[in-house]
Amino acid sequence: MADEPLVLGIETSCDETGVGIVRGTTLLADAVASSVNDHARFGGVVPEIASRAHLEAMVPTIQRALDTAGIKASDLDGIAVTAGPGLAGALLVGVSAAKAYAWALDKPLYGVNHLASHICVDQLEHGRLPEPTMALLVSGGHSSLLLTGDITCDVRPLGATIDDAAGEAFDKVARVLGLGFPGGPVVDRMSRTGDRKAIHFPRGLSGPKDPAFDFSFSGLKTAVARWVEAKRRAGEEVPVADVAASFQEAVTDVLTRKAVKACQEHGVDHLMIGGGVAANSRLRAMAEQRCERAGIRLRVPRPGLCTDNGAMVAALGAEMVWRNRAPSALDLSADSSLPVTEVSVPAAGVPAAGAAGDAHSDLHGQAYRALDGRA
Ligand code: KG4
Ligand code: ZN
Repeated sequence: MADEPLVLGIETSCDETGVGIVRGTTLLADAVASSVNDHARFGGVVPEIASRAHLEAMVPTIQRALDTAGIKASDLDGIAVTAGPGLAGALLVGVSAAKAYAWALDKPLYGVNHLASHICVDQLEHGRLPEPTMALLVSGGHSSLLLTGDITCDVRPLGATIDDAAGEAFDKVARVLGLGFPGGPVVDRMSRTGDRKAIHFPRGLSGPKDPAFDFSFSGLKTAVARWVEAKRRAGEEVPVADVAASFQEAVTDVLTRKAVKACQEHGVDHLMIGGGVAANSRLRAMAEQRCERAGIRLRVPRPGLCTDNGAMVAALGAEMVWRNRAPSALDLSADSSLPVTEVSVPAAGVPAAGAAGDAHSDLHGQAYRALDGRA
């Protein structure tokens, strides 16, 4: 284990300032400072507030992670940071901090993709990801089915949401029900006392002619809002727990059905679920049942590693070092809409590692070395 790469990861794409430290696939520290309470009264994340909170939390959170891991910054083999996608101003704080530490410590810098990090974090709990692995990525901004090989360079989208992300639907339904922000955890909690069969809400894009691996949650959200509004107009009490449980059932039914189908159609027998919505207790239980029935091995990180954190960024950074992937240059920029297929942001002049896989990535490493390893 001692010769596995020791990497610090910084995550600031939304409202969590996350700093994680891993050695290879072993988690050593996972420090998170969240500004979620500062946003609650606005009903959603306010980018400027998030950026300022990251700025205040950054250095103390890094120090806390180093203390927990019991290491010195100079022991590190690399610094990884979320380069995108996410809120531009929030990303910039993390990227600037990572550059400063990388430069001051003379360590390689790895700008990585937030979405691939949500997948790679599972290595900290269940060991290296099998190749291929199907990934169902469900967060506040994304819902996708991704066929992955080598997680440092091979992520192929099979389908995604055509409107709201799953987490966004949880947040919006929670608002309709007056449950506050963020909606996912509270809808999850309320649902435990509700009847999930009480109301049959629509399952978006589930018809025989619909795209098999795309999602749509906006019709479901509207259906819930209409149902609640009709009850209120009729002067009846809204059965909040039943509505929450029935809505959650509709989301998890579609997500798990399509994920299992994607595994079957592509002959993949490992499914991982990542992103904030993967913390959902019903999604975890239903996925377990359906995967077992279909003979698919399910991998879901513990809830604390599903929501945004720095350990996931460190996990992907360590994998990059372990596989000898090229670092980023010190002029790395944040990219708020970094595509899911771009797992890392290589130095300028180095071809991006894409779905082409290993041969391509070796070239990528050689090209970087030829550039004299300036970073
Ligand atoms: O991955 P994440 O922490 O941030 C993004 O990258 O977006 O995901 C946040 C989303 C929010 O929409 C939140 O409501 C949802 O994940 N979420 C949940 C649960 N915990 C967080 N959704 C359903 N059930 C949960 N237990
Ligand atoms: Zn996320």
